[in-house]
Amino acid sequence: MTIGNSDFKVILIGASGLLGRAVSSELTEQTRWQVVRTAFRHADANSVKLDIRDKEAVRTFIFEQEPDAIVVAAAERRPDVCENDPSLAKALNVDALEFIGAAANETGAWVLSISTDYVFDGTQPPYRPDDAPNPLNAYGRSKLDGERALMQSIARSCVLRLPLLYGPVTDWSESAVTSLVPAIVKSGVDNVPAIMDAWATRYPTFTPDVAIVIRQLLERCESAKAVKGVVHWSGNESMTKFDIAGCIARVLRLDAKIHCQQTPADATPRPKDCHLASAALDNMDIGRRTAFEVGIRAVLDSWPKPTVSRQTT
Ligand SMILES: NC(=O)c1ccc[n+]([C@@H]2O[C@H](COP(=O)([O-])OP(=O)(O)OC[C@H]3O[C@@H](n4cnc5c(N)ncnc54)[C@H](OP(=O)(O)O)[C@@H]3O)[C@@H](O)[C@H]2O)c1
Repeated sequence: MTIGNSDFKVILIGASGLLGRAVSSELTEQTRWQVVRTAFRHADANSVKLDIRDKEAVRTFIFEQEPDAIVVAAAERRPDVCENDPSLAKALNVDALEFIGAAANETGAWVLSISTDYVFDGTQPPYRPDDAPNPLNAYGRSKLDGERALMQSIARSCVLRLPLLYGPVTDWSESAVTSLVPAIVKSGVDNVPAIMDAWATRYPTFTPDVAIVIRQLLERCESAKAVKGVVHWSGNESMTKFDIAGCIARVLRLDAKIHCQQTPADATPRPKDCHLASAALDNMDIGRRTAFEVGIRAVLDSWPKPTVSRQTT
């Protein structure tokens, strides 16, 4: 369960999720650190099963492991679930960060937690880390409360806010980018248009790029230059879901019928444009940005091609 042989030890909480898997791969391939992975429902032979809602279990685990750094990629990140189950959102997105932060504060670990651009209302982009948050939905509110809970429990901590993520998936529904694929493919089969939002602007960001950002932040921690406070990281291509769907159709060479919708249609309110200004990390030479078409092609290439009519050129 522990991989690597250097003295620097990292706990990765939420190694089974969309982002956690990319971070797990990056740390295994690019470092010699000891990496201890945790998961919950998807715990396997390479991870420890840990329910981060269990305060005593979290505390015992951190005291036993005595890590140098903890990366928290576990969360409830589905806005509709947070809206309908606020106690689950609080337990995972707020209380667990307080438990982790308090234990890490006692053992001396640095904690990096992942947050979201949804802490902003999307009316005045771009957003810098010290701009006033104003979340529009329960997910954004819980993530903002979690940022505060962590930073109140441990000063030696960093919150990395990220926008819409995509990357290698185990199921199309795992990311709000790849979740568009079935409707796009279906529109090419039965000619029923796929309706895509052209109102909200997103900055789709590739999880392997974020994994590099996290590895570089951990390297700074290892060399006693740990970053503290809130930082932002974002891809730099502004796209609506309509744009994203068009790119996916092109990459798949599908004759898809994609129609745009100019007004918000989600049941849960979402911000219009939360572009995150990433200057602080850029100035530290941290990060890599993969072009969306390149990243989504890599994701789609890892799946069997849809068997529908295709453009011939
Ligand atoms: N996805 C996005 O577009 C996006 C955008 C901005 C920010 N973020 C943030 O990025 C972080 C990672 O998101 P993600 O998309 O990778 O999420 P995800 O794919 O939904 O993964 C969630 C992780 O949380 C773990 N988890 C759930 N309940 C748990 C529990 N009770 N105890 C311990 N672990 C538990 C899951 O483990 P099991 O599956 O093993 O239960 C899984 O590893 C989150 O903080 C999210 O808010 C995500």
